[in-house]
Amino acid sequence: MVWCSVGDVGSDVLDDVIGWRDGCITAIDQTALPHRLAVLRLTTVDELVDAITTLAVRGAPLLGVAGALGVALAVRQAEREGWDAARLEAEVKRIADARPTAVNLRREVLAVAAAIPGGPGAVEAAALAVRDTAVEVSVRLSERGAAFLTGECGERPLKVHTHCNTGALACLGWGSALGVIRALRTRGALAHVIADETRPLLQGSRLTAWELAQLGIEHYLAADGAGPFLIARGHADAVVVGADRVAANGDVANKIGTYSLALAARRAGIPFVVAAPESTIDAATATGADIPLELRADDEVTSFQGVRTAPAGTRALNYAFDVTPADLVTAIVTEDRVLRPH
Ligand code: MRU
Repeated sequence: MVWCSVGDVGSDVLDDVIGWRDGCITAIDQTALPHRLAVLRLTTVDELVDAITTLAVRGAPLLGVAGALGVALAVRQAEREGWDAARLEAEVKRIADARPTAVNLRREVLAVAAAIPGGPGAVEAAALAVRDTAVEVSVRLSERGAAFLTGECGERPLKVHTHCNTGALACLGWGSALGVIRALRTRGALAHVIADETRPLLQGSRLTAWELAQLGIEHYLAADGAGPFLIARGHADAVVVGADRVAANGDVANKIGTYSLALAARRAGIPFVVAAPESTIDAATATGADIPLELRADDEVTSFQGVRTAPAGTRALNYAFDVTPADLVTAIVTEDRVLRPH
């Protein structure tokens, strides 16, 4: 894994979230933000899997793109190292299995792997098409979401509460929930954003606050536990979040902490809107109970930045995602449609 400066990659950092250069994947290292803006050069499947599991590369749509480019990376490595077909298949599977909840990862890996018989050129073209589609989808999704919210809440500047990170870092282009926020701003229909810090890995404070600042969007950061109270006190007109997987019945898996916002939104009578590309909807998963939820290491909760914060021996229940039941979801907005799951 090699570091390079962002200046080597391009001028607009959010356009450089993930790329394909000289047979390698380049990606912003999301573990280093907001203190350091650096780009990883990933040259092997091992390095890519490590970047995915450590959340250097993260967010459901971005995981799909990383998986797609990962197949191209595996094909290049197979050529270099003389792998047989069985080894290549096993390495591709390792990429698909690197994280379980976001359906985009497995879906795009399988889609691009279908191009392997056509050779490296065909695989790279298929992977880059996945990347281009993600950008285009994010803009359509964002605009549809903003139009929906304006219809629900009226033509006025909205206070929007959001969770985790759903901008260009997580999706490319405009993002999903953060894309909707960006599109609201473009329409003059955004008052400000409240972003949860998103314990335990702080995607909200490290990444969302950074992206909002880059975009010049007024925002406040809130402790996760404050979310429901802030909503009850009228600090939000709507909650807008992304999704890692939407089950066939409309149950939504998203970053842990999303469910409590949905409950609070219902109680306060404000819309709870999920902004997610069609590629996040998994018709093969019947309900939220069937969604595999990633359980991550205890020390993400029992320590902070390498310093233990809980007594030795304390165990954690560190689910990375929760499931919001469909009946709490006002709408799921994709690039193509608005679904009302109940
Ligand atoms: O663990 P992460 O950071 O990959 O989780 C990301 C989220 O939960 C996002 O809200 C989700 O992927 C939706 S849109 C990017």
